[in-house]
Amino acid sequence: MRTSKALNITRKYADPDSRAARLTRQARAVMPGGNSRTTVYMAPYPPYAAEGHGCWIVDADGDRRLDLLNNYTALIHGHAHPAVTATASARLARGSSFAMPTPEEVELATLLVERLPAVEQIRFTNSGSEAVMMAIKAARGFTGRHKIAKFEGAYHGSYDYAEVSLSSTPGTWGSLAEPSSVAYSRGTPPAVLDDVIALPFNHPELAARRIVQHAGELAAVIVDPVPNRVGLMPADREFLERLRAVTAAHGILLIFDEVISFRVGYHGAQGYFGIQPDLTTLGKIIGGGFPVGAVGGRAEVMRVFDPTSGPPPVPHGGTFNANPVTMAAGLAAMRLMDRAAFERLAEFGAKLRDGIAACFKDAGVAGSVTGVGSLLKVHPGNRALSDYRSSRQDAAEAARLDRIVRFLLDHGVFLSTTGLGCLSTPMGDAEIEGFLEVFATALEAERRA
Ligand SMILES: Cc1ncc(COP(=O)(O)O)c(C=O)c1O
Repeated sequence: MRTSKALNITRKYADPDSRAARLTRQARAVMPGGNSRTTVYMAPYPPYAAEGHGCWIVDADGDRRLDLLNNYTALIHGHAHPAVTATASARLARGSSFAMPTPEEVELATLLVERLPAVEQIRFTNSGSEAVMMAIKAARGFTGRHKIAKFEGAYHGSYDYAEVSLSSTPGTWGSLAEPSSVAYSRGTPPAVLDDVIALPFNHPELAARRIVQHAGELAAVIVDPVPNRVGLMPADREFLERLRAVTAAHGILLIFDEVISFRVGYHGAQGYFGIQPDLTTLGKIIGGGFPVGAVGGRAEVMRVFDPTSGPPPVPHGGTFNANPVTMAAGLAAMRLMDRAAFERLAEFGAKLRDGIAACFKDAGVAGSVTGVGSLLKVHPGNRALSDYRSSRQDAAEAARLDRIVRFLLDHGVFLSTTGLGCLSTPMGDAEIEGFLEVFATALEAERRA
């Protein structure tokens, strides 16, 4: 095992004269907090990315780190994969967007419909947030009802309805049986809170009872089967089965948000769990590194978007929807992700999660790891995790996770400040072993602290 002396030190960005510091000063003059994306901020300021190759990122100060975040799980082949880059560049050279559909859109739609058991028809957006927004609108248009139900703590993008109870706290979350609908952004209209019912994740009886209570008003129940912000604990299969049964019994649509969880396997989380939702939202990996989202599902429901017989019940525009560069890159990326590629990533994922758990045990530091397939999340505590409430960190735990993640950042590894990580196909045994050595050293530092 390497000692900390042998570790790469990657903290040039932290120098007050670093390029990152200078860029931050410039950025703050023209952008609030110097930031366009809340999740990439870190105090006092983040390193800036210069380039990425495979599973490595070089920052603007020249430091190189193993990228275990992959743009929050979007980059399943890491950075600048030659096949994806060549395909996207070739498409770009022939025009990047048109007020016409393109052949690439049809090909990517066909691939996704073939792979996802519950998707008969699909259409594209530019982000997962838009995909969720359109799924909710489709459910409302199809059912004629306007309320939705979502799970406490679950993230479904930047849309008022999808954000309800995303970060509720012990002071605001109410009872487990009837979680309060809590605003995430200041200024959320009270009507939004009235129209979103919060549910407890992984509690089949409680969730089903609450769904039945509101059945006549609910257009949809949206669930992420492996919800990152809830703690990245995979849903219990019985829980999903119960949701499927109770929604079907009451004419409520079940939406699977697979923006992240499509990573779980060739047939997505719906294939992994063997459950067929009515609608599915996608994003991230299906765009080959370009902005993307998609909403798909049963043809009968998707018909709300169909413009062939006059204005559709749910019109859906978008200047860059299904733009051919994203579609071409997505096709190249997804074609590379055959069954064997998903299986290989899942094997490495299990190895990495086992390794992380062993590091915590060996170091005698409280911590655990959740995830499935190529996804993982490091938790700074030892208790059993099952839902949002059990995975919410106290101040001491949050501080411990922050120290661990910063140690990694300063020693050649990039992981989310929330502990989220994922694999990319360029990674192999060497990267996993290298990561575990740095992780073990981080925990050793933590134990001594
Ligand atoms: C489960 C889930 N749904 C939706 C979204 C929103 O996707 P986007 O960031 O592309 O808008 C995310 C983003 O992280 C997500 O994790």
